[in-house]
Amino acid sequence: MRWRRKHLLGIAELEPHELGCLLGLAAEFKRDGFRRPPLKATVANLFYEPSTRTANSFALAARNIGLNVLNFSKSASSAAKGETLIDTARNIEAMGVAGFVLRHSASGAPWLLARNVNGAVANAGDGCHEHPTQCLLDLLTMREAKGALEGLKVLIIGDVKHSRVARSLMHGLLKSRAQPAVCGPASMMPRTLPVDVARMPDIERAIEWAEVLYFLRVQLERQGRPLIGSLAEYHEFYGLTNERLARLAADKWIMHPGPVNRGVELAAAAADARQSLILKQVANGVYVRMAVLYLVVGAALLGEIAVD
Ligand code: CP
Repeated sequence: MRWRRKHLLGIAELEPHELGCLLGLAAEFKRDGFRRPPLKATVANLFYEPSTRTANSFALAARNIGLNVLNFSKSASSAAKGETLIDTARNIEAMGVAGFVLRHSASGAPWLLARNVNGAVANAGDGCHEHPTQCLLDLLTMREAKGALEGLKVLIIGDVKHSRVARSLMHGLLKSRAQPAVCGPASMMPRTLPVDVARMPDIERAIEWAEVLYFLRVQLERQGRPLIGSLAEYHEFYGLTNERLARLAADKWIMHPGPVNRGVELAAAAADARQSLILKQVANGVYVRMAVLYLVVGAALLGEIAVD
């Protein structure tokens, strides 16, 4: 296949074969290392929100495929003096940058950026909207753990309403013909869900049904007003407690995008349990971001990239 998209903005807009292409290339890089002609260009990491996993793995991924990296943070730049996102990006582009990785608190910011620069744009998480590279690394990790995504029963637990991770993951699972379901407090459930995403109100039955338990971070900073009585109550009703962990079958997998609130979504022992894939997710983040940057920056520079 020939890849022609110069932006990765959301999972919703990808065709299933494009999703497969990204996962296949990430798996190739993981298995064989990067053996393709390196891209000689610079990408700018524009992080307007804090990040540990996404920012650092995008930086490592870029270097692994031969790209130079400009790291930008809002607080240490002229954005702190009021310069707009578009002015900032155009000024950086004028220095010869070929692509942007953008994390922003405003939903839709990567689409706005993509309309206003010539280079590639990769969405590193926008508001409550999408986090496409998190979805890719989650799918790659599930596929490795279970062998295939088709038919896989994945329970997404927690604050679905405010989660860009959940939104991207539901799209990615449906496009991969898996079976996603959600469970959580009514105040954290969106009014509408994509067709074919099941609602499972009973956490014990839902855990029994699922093959993968995907716990979302409780995002207190995005809720506006408290949606739960207390964190202790949340843990008791929707967390992977020590008691639920003790009953958990050995072939069920535990996932979380990070950062984990220990004692809230997961008991500390659950985060570190044998069934936990959390650090495998983080490791796979480097390979999927190598694939994303290789394809979108390659498409921006060369028009298209041959993948097969
Ligand atoms: N999962 C994730 O996006 O983590 P960071 O906020 O640390 O990048």
